Amino acid sequence: MKLITADYIYTPQGFKENYAIAFDETIIAVDSLKLIMEQFPDATLHYGGEFSILYPGFINTHVHLEFSANTTSLQYGNFMEWLDCVIEKRNDLLGQCDNQLMENKINEMLSSGITTFGAISSFGAELEVCATSPQRVVFFNELIGSNPAYVDTLYGDFLERLKSSQNRKPHEKITPAIAIHSPYSVHPIVLKKAIGLAKEHRLLLSAHFLESQAEREWLESGSGDFKPFFEKFFKTSFPVTTINEFLGAFENHQTHFTHCVQATQNELQYLSHHGHSIAHCPRSNRLLGCGRLEIERVERLEIPFCIATDGLSSNYSLSLFDEMRATLMIHDTQPLQSLATSLIQSVTSTAADVFGLNIGKIEAGKEADFVMIRLPNAPISLSDIPLQTILHTKKVCEVYIGGQKIIASPTF
Ligand code: BEZ
Ligand code: FE2
Repeated sequence: MKLITADYIYTPQGFKENYAIAFDETIIAVDSLKLIMEQFPDATLHYGGEFSILYPGFINTHVHLEFSANTTSLQYGNFMEWLDCVIEKRNDLLGQCDNQLMENKINEMLSSGITTFGAISSFGAELEVCATSPQRVVFFNELIGSNPAYVDTLYGDFLERLKSSQNRKPHEKITPAIAIHSPYSVHPIVLKKAIGLAKEHRLLLSAHFLESQAEREWLESGSGDFKPFFEKFFKTSFPVTTINEFLGAFENHQTHFTHCVQATQNELQYLSHHGHSIAHCPRSNRLLGCGRLEIERVERLEIPFCIATDGLSSNYSLSLFDEMRATLMIHDTQPLQSLATSLIQSVTSTAADVFGLNIGKIEAGKEADFVMIRLPNAPISLSDIPLQTILHTKKVCEVYIGGQKIIASPTF
């Protein structure tokens, strides 16, 4: 049994002062410092220091580690130019991405307070580093393939990867899951098989959805920039599905849809009514010229959303603090303090609910996953803490996963 306290603790009831936590692998009690000390007089107490704040560990629900070798190789600014470039450079980028590089990126996530992440895996190459990482990992095996001539082989490969992720040991903290690449790149026959599998084995599902205007045009009318792309790379001329057919396939299985930038009000309403959620990656959307997700609409429709980084193929860091800072700037008409508050919620309790994991809240009974950060000075009010946390945090001071202290690097 250990005790920890900070100047402020982020609880489901708001920021608490003079509070403390008793924990082993899970959180045993959260109460006033006085009561915790009385209840556990023999346990040692750790204090995070001046201007410290204790948060639940942060959760990055959408990242592609296999593309970690990219820094300057890909064309940004326009989605189709980027996708063309990814296809052209994919083998080089994958070849340059070894375990050491992915481990470094996982460590960078850790030092920015990410204790759980959702790894979207195209080839299964990152399974070993995810298994040996200290973090919890939801391992999304990705299904891709629209050309009927190849889908059976690709589906067979996907099943093998899924099986490997299901065979890991419990202490490796891997949750196997399924990712559908996108409506334009997955044939409806294998899409239905994969969703059937997800339902049968109660696996989490994720899918890229309506990321670009080109995707929308291709799915709606079989025209636009995707037409020459498919003719060139896949020798096909027609989309394999429609937006409604694709969405309908996920009925009765709550899914984490990534991007949704080009979704209409009706489509967002559909997501809301069916209990789906959104991974919002604003820097990726900006860099690929996809536009801005109207999160004000998403919030009005009460769709759970999570800020996520996407991979280094469409971003320049895997830090959720970098992502949240950018989010504050991109959604520039939103009230600042309340946006900051909902961003912190999005990467803690909302992301935990989306993943169905017992994390994301500082509350008795939850896994003891938390991070200590320190502001450079005192906040002017409790309601200003989320904003100041996002503005000033680059690295966290301490990380605990399942009650184990993982890093303790003084940053101030
Ligand atoms: C496809 O299999 O259709 C596909 C794969 C990668 C990117 C786009 C489409
Ligand atoms: Fe992605």
